[in-house]
This record gives sequence, C-alpha cells and structure tokens, in this order.
Amino acid sequence: MRLRNPKDKDEVINSCTFFYNKEEGFSKEQPIHLEIGMGKGNFILNMALVHPNINFIGVEKYSSVASLAIKKIREYDLPNLKIIITDAKNLPLIIPKKVECIYLNFSDPWPKDRHAKRRLTSPDYLKYYDDLFKNRAQIIMKTDNDNLFRYSLETLQDYGYKLEKISYDLHKEDITNIMTEYEERFTKEGIKIKYVHATKN
Ligand SMILES: C[S@@+](CC[C@H](N)C(=O)[O-])C[C@H]1O[C@@H](n2cnc3c(N)ncnc32)[C@H](O)[C@@H]1O
Repeated sequence: MRLRNPKDKDEVINSCTFFYNKEEGFSKEQPIHLEIGMGKGNFILNMALVHPNINFIGVEKYSSVASLAIKKIREYDLPNLKIIITDAKNLPLIIPKKVECIYLNFSDPWPKDRHAKRRLTSPDYLKYYDDLFKNRAQIIMKTDNDNLFRYSLETLQDYGYKLEKISYDLHKEDITNIMTEYEERFTKEGIKIKYVHATKN
C-alpha cells in the first residue's frame, strides 16, 4: 500500500511515543507477536486490546501508511503495542530471536515472476524470519489472493514448515478472527479469505 504523504505525517511520526526500541523493549516480559505489513493498523490494535498478555509489534515499510496507524493507536495507552517503520528484511537486527508468532495479512501478491523475491513468503523472507523466532517458528497468513496462497503453501512446506491448518474460506471456520482493513473490503466484495497456520521446530 503506497499513499500520498498525509499532510500531518511528520508531526504524527515525530510525536509517536511507541516505536519499538531494542534497548527498552516492553514494560512487561511476555510473548512477542509481530504483524508484517500492518497497513492502517486495525488488526494489530485490536489484537493488542484483546490480548493484554501478549506484546505486539506492528511493522510497516511506508511511513505514510504507518502514520495512519499511529493516529489510531495513540488514542489508546497500550503498554503491549509498539511499532517499527522498516522493511521486514531489516528486522533481524532490531528484534533478533524474540518473536513467537508472525502474522502476514493480505501481503502484496507481486504477481510477476521477476518480483517473486519481494513476496513476504519468498524463501528470502522466510530466511530473515528464522533470525526473529525465539524457539519454534509460527506464521499465520491470510490472503484474498489464490496465486499468492498457492505459492506460499509451497514455499512454507519446502522451507520445512508444517501446515497445521489450511482454510479456503476462513469466515466459515471456527477460528477466532480479527478483520483487517483489506479483509473487510474483500469480504464485502464476496471474496473468500484463505488462511494458513504454519509451524517449524
Ligand atoms: C496490501 S497491504 C495490507 C495491509 C493490512 N495488513 C491489511 O490487511 O489491511 C500490505 C502492506 O504491507 C506493507 N509491506 C509490503 N512489503 C513490506 C515489507 N517488506 N516490509 C514491511 N511492510 C511491507 C505495505 O506497505 C502495505 O501497507
């Protein structure tokens, strides 16, 4: 998601008090879950509200988009939610060996073969994630996109992940789910949401 810079972007970013910082970490030691590509932040904000016993980090590569998430998040005073503005490939330097679960929600599909490396489930990115996980690796992915889903099931398995649960229509399943902005939009259009929960020891 690329946006024209919101007028107040710099003010919002400069006054943000909840950027993740390796030295400070979180006020309470508890499991860390990460969303890569949080977009406007609905999912990570609601997850943090519902699960106070988990520390959440929302990652977004564009500051224009992140500023919209920050504006929502700053309305709450949540000790268990921080954000990072960066490309996911830089995360091993920022949160090495700390994460228990990664959420990939409606990641950009990058349909052209020559852009496959940019997909967040490409072997290159899966390798970066190896350096983030504390012990067991756990990825939960949702998408509207059949091709990205097929590709991801393959790359995850080839990389040694076990596919614990696959759904081709998430909203028909008995799985607790918090909707993202994209999910709301695709669901209104009648598109079924694909879901996979993958783990690697
Ligand atoms: C299609 S949007 C989905 C946003 C949100 N997860 C949702 O479901 O509504 C994908 C988001 O991932 C971000 N993104 C894509 N590649 C990324 C990367 N390598 N590192 C961090 N964020 C990335 C994009 O900037 C965009 O905001």
